[in-house]
Amino acid sequence: MKVVTSIAKMQELSRQTRGAGLCVGFVPTMGFLHEGHLELVRKAKALADVVVVSIFVNPTQFDRRDDFDTYPRDEKTDRALLEREGVDILFEPSAEEVYPEGADTCVNVPRLTHNLCGAHRPGHFDGVATVVSALFNMVRPDLAVFGEKDYQQLQLVRRMTRDLHFPVAIVPGPTVREADGLAMSSRNARLEPGHREQAPIINAALRAAAAAFLEGETGAARLLGIVREKLDSCKAIKLEYLELIDGESLEPVEVADQDSVIAVAAFMGAVRLIDNIIFARATAERRGNGRLDELERQGGDHDATISN
Ligand code: PAF
Repeated sequence: MKVVTSIAKMQELSRQTRGAGLCVGFVPTMGFLHEGHLELVRKAKALADVVVVSIFVNPTQFDRRDDFDTYPRDEKTDRALLEREGVDILFEPSAEEVYPEGADTCVNVPRLTHNLCGAHRPGHFDGVATVVSALFNMVRPDLAVFGEKDYQQLQLVRRMTRDLHFPVAIVPGPTVREADGLAMSSRNARLEPGHREQAPIINAALRAAAAAFLEGETGAARLLGIVREKLDSCKAIKLEYLELIDGESLEPVEVADQDSVIAVAAFMGAVRLIDNIIFARATAERRGNGRLDELERQGGDHDATISN
């Protein structure tokens, strides 16, 4: 695995790779890698000839300085994991190079970022959109893989890629879960042991709502009521938002259909957790073999299409 820190060097390697007729796959990360990231890497490897993973803890997407300062980092383990996955290039640019003195450009996708996480983390998605577009210009990939766990981020990246005409196919990677259903996240390591034990209730509550949808319930109030009732039974969970939304516009809907998603954010102590359930995926899984529970636990079968 080549480790590259210079942007010019990264651009040159990408130019050579593409010049040789090979496809460049890209997985952007902020490090502290877990199985969820590694699944995205595996997906990129299955689709591309050369895989680039970036590790860059992007300061502009943290709305709180202390969150940036305490964001978990483990460079040595990350490198070993990526080597083991057969990643070709690890790209670790410095903040000074990514944001040169006087950098003043901001990419903003307002309609997709005014609600959900965007309403609670001012500036967060401007930071994400800006750094992802900068990373696309540095890595120049043919395809890039983003996890469905950060559903709002995935949608904004799709929209930004389309609107700014980046020649990059955006590939979604299904959420990877712990054996008890908790969505994998770098933040899980910060949960107090008692909270860690209770946290899977978030996924269980979402699955209960999806099961009701699959049985014919479509009313937003009733579906969200199912989730809320379960979460309310856990005193440690402080709900930030819970919404039934259209999967593309991210606007709330009153009546659920195949395009709907339930998205949730909640605090357990100081740790903020997000999760979601995509009704189209739940339906496909139910049709596939009727074992929604099992598939949800495993992260589901993958949507292998390249779409942007
Ligand atoms: O999802 C993340 O880890 C980050 O938001 C990303 C896409 C790497 C941009 O910094």
